[in-house]
Amino acid sequence: MSDDEHAKRGIDLERPNAARVYDYMIGGRLNYAVDRMFAERILGVLPNAQHMALVNRAWLRRAVRFGAEQGIRQFLDIGSGMPTVGHVHEVVQAIDPQSRVVYVDNEPIAVAHSEIVLEGNENAAMVQADAERPDEVLDHPVTEALLDFGEPVMVIMAAFVHFIPDARDPAGLIAAYRDVLAPGSHLALSSGTWEGQGEESQRSVALYEKSGTPLTLRSPDELRALVKGFEILPPGIVFTPEWRPDGPLEDPPEQSGGLALVARKER
Ligand SMILES: C[S@@+](CC[C@H](N)C(=O)[O-])C[C@H]1O[C@@H](n2cnc3c(N)ncnc32)[C@H](O)[C@@H]1O
Repeated sequence: MSDDEHAKRGIDLERPNAARVYDYMIGGRLNYAVDRMFAERILGVLPNAQHMALVNRAWLRRAVRFGAEQGIRQFLDIGSGMPTVGHVHEVVQAIDPQSRVVYVDNEPIAVAHSEIVLEGNENAAMVQADAERPDEVLDHPVTEALLDFGEPVMVIMAAFVHFIPDARDPAGLIAAYRDVLAPGSHLALSSGTWEGQGEESQRSVALYEKSGTPLTLRSPDELRALVKGFEILPPGIVFTPEWRPDGPLEDPPEQSGGLALVARKER
């Protein structure tokens, strides 16, 4: 693709992008030199970063499977990133092929590749939108065609809210999505945390700060405050590997660097 073509599609090759850096961390190929250089700098100060990304993806698969087991058949994945093996539609459509999934991201490469992966899948689609503008997501024709907000929906925010600093009101943003959900809807959320982390995590935050996509790591109490109006389901807010694990944990859970929760809207 030429530089002009990249610019036309809104692909910024000057600065690392969170979706593409994360893709590199989980072993994907949808990234550029600028992303790989940044990811390597992160791995230099935080060698565990790849493990953190992988256990986050494993949690995401368990969380959406849990949603499907609760009878949910509609999923809205906000900040969905690059399509990877074990993406949400693969997990939930294996349980019920009629499950509907809307992915949302603002990164053009993630959008283009998701569209390719989803081609021919009538029940899953990609929306390119700024998720910090809930109307853009909720009123999008693709969202309106696939999701019925009169029925329960699982909203997924996996490794997304830590890109929203307090000054941009993440609690208000989550509330805007919550307000349109029917009772019985769920929120699956994971976030980077300071909890149990050493000073290498501070060094990686300092690197992200310089990259233009600062990270806001949060404590369990800070996450609890973000999800007001939802009832947090057992086991509560825990390190991602501790959330309803499929078997014995292989590594100390704090090495995940991330907390996770699934919560339910009661009324
Ligand atoms: C670390 S990745 C997480 C990907 C996936 N949810 C996961 O957990 O594996 C964060 C994603 O959020 C997206 N993102 C960040 N801010 C966004 C915004 N305002 N609107 C839409 N997507 C956004 C990034 O482009 C990136 O793909």
